[in-house]
Parts: sequence; structure tokens; C-alpha cells
Amino acid sequence: MSLITLTDPRSPASEAYRALRTNLQFYSLDHPIRTLVVTSPAPDEGKSTTVANLAVTMAQSGRRTILVDCDLRRPSLHTLFSRQTEPGLTNLVLGEGDELPLQETAVPDLWLLTSGPKPPNPADLLNTRRLDQIIEQLTARADIVLFDAPPVVAVTDAAILGAKVDGVLLVLSAGKTRRDHAERAKEMLEKAKARIVGVALTNAPKDASVGDYYG
Ligand SMILES: Nc1ncnc2c1ncn2[C@@H]1O[C@H](COP(=O)(O)OP(=O)(O)OP(=O)(O)O)[C@@H](O)[C@H]1O
Ligand SMILES: [Mg+2]
Repeated sequence: MSLITLTDPRSPASEAYRALRTNLQFYSLDHPIRTLVVTSPAPDEGKSTTVANLAVTMAQSGRRTILVDCDLRRPSLHTLFSRQTEPGLTNLVLGEGDELPLQETAVPDLWLLTSGPKPPNPADLLNTRRLDQIIEQLTARADIVLFDAPPVVAVTDAAILGAKVDGVLLVLSAGKTRRDHAERAKEMLEKAKARIVGVALTNAPKDASVGDYYG
């Protein structure tokens, strides 16, 4: 498993994920975020890496955490945790059993719900009452549920999902994410009535002073 929060918990990167966790915890004290979608404007900007490390960090703070792979087009969380995609979310949405096929991970308090088999129509599958029920079931089992999602600008999946959860964390990649894509992603999420609760910057150049400070 190549999750830096597990392989090198004392690294500046792991510290940054913990800072992100803390900021999200303090975002809304009256109504804590229980369901959060992580997405980005375009492909390959660090969505899956961010959501997985954030999930590890949440679980490490003792919160019961469920990580759900809602990128039904290019699922990857199963690979990060060395699992098969099935049984997973799409099996559940299609009504193949009521039991949540949650998989334990090497991290105490962290469970994984993989994507399941690839459906022909991911957006339609996410845009169902059944998915609302599944989100309710997941929330009943955990303190926080984190969802990985496809990029916002290309397909509607993330916006659909964003409207069903407490908040959306938008990942932007330094030197890579295009400004117009970032603006378009924000517009599309807001139009879908999703609440953007923060932005996480990936691929940021190393800050020498901070690096020195932490050794
Ligand atoms: N914080 C980061 N800093 C630098 N590189 C990163 C960071 N997070 C992820 N990466 C790298 O960026 C690439 C894409 O990461 P990842 O798969 O998490 O992106 P993604 O947005 O989920 O991609 P996709 O659109 O295919 O789902 C990987 O090679 C990963 O190692
Ligand atoms: Mg991904």
C-alpha cells in the first residue's frame, strides 16, 4: 500500500493531511460534516490520493470512517488497498443484497466500499433514491463517510453526488489545473446545489522553510 499517511506518518505531507482533517472538523462546529465528496475539475489531479489519505487520517484520530469509491468510471481505491472492485457500490445500488459489503482495511476504524462492476450509466446510477438510502445506511455505521468521485468538468457524477452530501472538497493541482476548469467546476457544483467546503492543493512545490523546520 503506498499511502504516505501509513508509510511515512511523520512526513510533511502526512502533516498536511492532518491539517486538512482539522480544518474540515472546524469548518462547521454546529453541523459537523458527516458525508464529504472529494473531486477535482479534471483527471489526474490527485482526488483519489487525497481522499484515501484523508480517510486514513480521520480513522487514525479514532473516528469510524468509511471510504467509498464513487468513481465508477475509473475506480482506483481498490488498487490502493489491494482489493478487488467487487462486491461493491454498484452491486448494492442494483439491489443485489441489503448487507453493506464493507471491507476491513489494515487501518483500525477504516472500512472500504469498493466501486463494484462498471455500469454502462454511472450518472444514472448515482442519481437514484436507492443511493440516498445507501448514504443513509453508511452514515448510520460511521462518524464520517468519504466519497471519491470522477472529475467535475467532464461528467455530471460528482455534481449529482455533491448535492446528496454535506460538503464537497475540491482538489486543485498546482501548475496543472487550468484556471477556467477550476472556475467551471465551481459553477457546476454550485448550480447542482453542492456545498464546496474547501480546496486542497496538490502537487505544490516544496516549501523550503517548512521542510527545514520539520527536518
Ligand atoms: N499531493 C500530491 N502531490 C503530488 N502528486 C500527487 C499528489 N496526489 C497525487 N499525486 C499524483 O498524481 C497522480 C494522480 O493521482 P490520483 O490517482 O490520486 O488522481 P485522480 O485525480 O484521482 O485521478 P483520476 O482522475 O484518474 O481519478 C498520481 O501519479 C499521484 O501519485
Ligand atoms: Mg481517482
